[in-house]
Amino acid sequence: MKRNILVGQSGGPTAVINSSLYGVWKEGKAHPEAIGTIYGMVNGISGFLEEHILDLTALPEEQARLWRTTPAAYLGSCRYKLPENLDDAVYPLIFEKLQKYQIGYVLYIGGNDSMDTVSKLSRYGNKIGSDIRFLGVPKTIDNDLVLTDHTPGFGSAAKYVAAMVRQMVMDSEVYSTQSVTIIEIMGRAAGWLTAASVLARRFEGDNPVLIYLPETAFDIEAMLSRLQALLLVKKNIIICVSEGIHDAEGRLICEYEKEIGADVFGHKNLTGCGKVLENIIKDRLGIKVRSVELNITQRCSATMASLVDVDEADLCGQEGVRLALKGKSGLMVSMRRSSADPYTITYEGVDVNQVCNQEKLVPAAWITKEGTDLDKAFIEYVYPLIQGESMPPMREGLPVFIHRS
Ligand code: F6P
Repeated sequence: MKRNILVGQSGGPTAVINSSLYGVWKEGKAHPEAIGTIYGMVNGISGFLEEHILDLTALPEEQARLWRTTPAAYLGSCRYKLPENLDDAVYPLIFEKLQKYQIGYVLYIGGNDSMDTVSKLSRYGNKIGSDIRFLGVPKTIDNDLVLTDHTPGFGSAAKYVAAMVRQMVMDSEVYSTQSVTIIEIMGRAAGWLTAASVLARRFEGDNPVLIYLPETAFDIEAMLSRLQALLLVKKNIIICVSEGIHDAEGRLICEYEKEIGADVFGHKNLTGCGKVLENIIKDRLGIKVRSVELNITQRCSATMASLVDVDEADLCGQEGVRLALKGKSGLMVSMRRSSADPYTITYEGVDVNQVCNQEKLVPAAWITKEGTDLDKAFIEYVYPLIQGESMPPMREGLPVFIHRS
């Protein structure tokens, strides 16, 4: 008997999360003997609870293919936490709705919080003896999922960050006067994306000269002394900081000037540490300082996406469907670097219960001892992920994307 697919997107978007949607759709369509309808949940599991779903099956291939080059989340996203208690009434409700739409395979594209949803649904499914398969497809610009070499979305964001920082370095050099530019980069507790700013350097000693990750406690006085010493030999200084930098007591730098809110998972809305540092440096050193927050531009830039990343996201989606059709459940698709040279990725399933709610940080060995630079091992790791160009089709000078009508 044919069963249907239900695919959803959850958490913060990336430039390639829709490429994974395309992979799921394409592989689903390749198995008409086993799969009937391909449904998309609008706004993830929270939208599904309101039966907000779309039938994606009949979408023409040339339309669906635009997902590969469309940023954000075509289906819409959510930050929704399912209850820890599997006896909660929401679980039978979800399974009733899955039954109603004859869903056999649920593919959920997301980060560690979304893997928490996959974990809970597959565990509840086991508990009641359901044969519905639940698979996680990884995504996040933060690159903080464990048990996978890296995550789709990171390569494109890393390419964007490196390219933007390199361009800002050029801009910072135009005047003969001294300046400091602080660039704030996303990544919560993990500094992978901020670390990627090291790729912007054109030669040894080039900017960004200071790179601060949340993996190392941030010391304002130490930064000011480094800065003063650097300004004696360098006119324009670029500092890259992660949104999640904190002091030795664990206090976030972005909270020095204001209180910040949190989402349902308890993640604080990190923003503003660049501005805090700008004010402190201006005050203490009396020179021209500017702060730039890359903010969402770093996760939605389809015009600066990495082709490697777009392809891998697509393949992760495809692999999710293949695993589901093999009867696997409670797994997340994982990418294993089976060879570094030539760069080769193999796709497999890993236990989603071991992935959810964990954070993979930049290894201490890859952060140089003052905590302000990256070792070449990191550069070798990240370099293959930013390779190749992927451009959306252009019309009248602007990118063309697919969007829900
Ligand atoms: O999904 C990860 C991420 O992009 C983080 O880098 C960032 O801190 C967070 O999401 C922002 O979340 P939101 O868009 O929900 O404010």
